[in-house]
Amino acid sequence: MSKPEITICLGSSCFARGNERNLQLIEEYLSSHHLVDEVDLRLGCSLCQGKCASGPNVTINGVTYGGVDPGMMLELLKNLFKEQQK
Ligand code: FES
Repeated sequence: MSKPEITICLGSSCFARGNERNLQLIEEYLSSHHLVDEVDLRLGCSLCQGKCASGPNVTINGVTYGGVDPGMMLELLKNLFKEQQK
């Protein structure tokens, strides 16, 4: 099975509106759950996606979520890895 793919928008709007914190959260979550090698975390190719108004945006396996606050980010991660374990 291929690794789940998380792309976090690091354009200045998303970054300032919450993705700086979301990125920290993802990294903390992955390392505390020993999942760092289980995810394809894409940062380099994730500059502004042209959807700033709905940001901060995070894309997981091709689905883009807008307005991602830390609580939502955690839920997305939990759901993602619950799915992977099936
Ligand atoms: S900065 Fe994220 S969509 Fe523009």
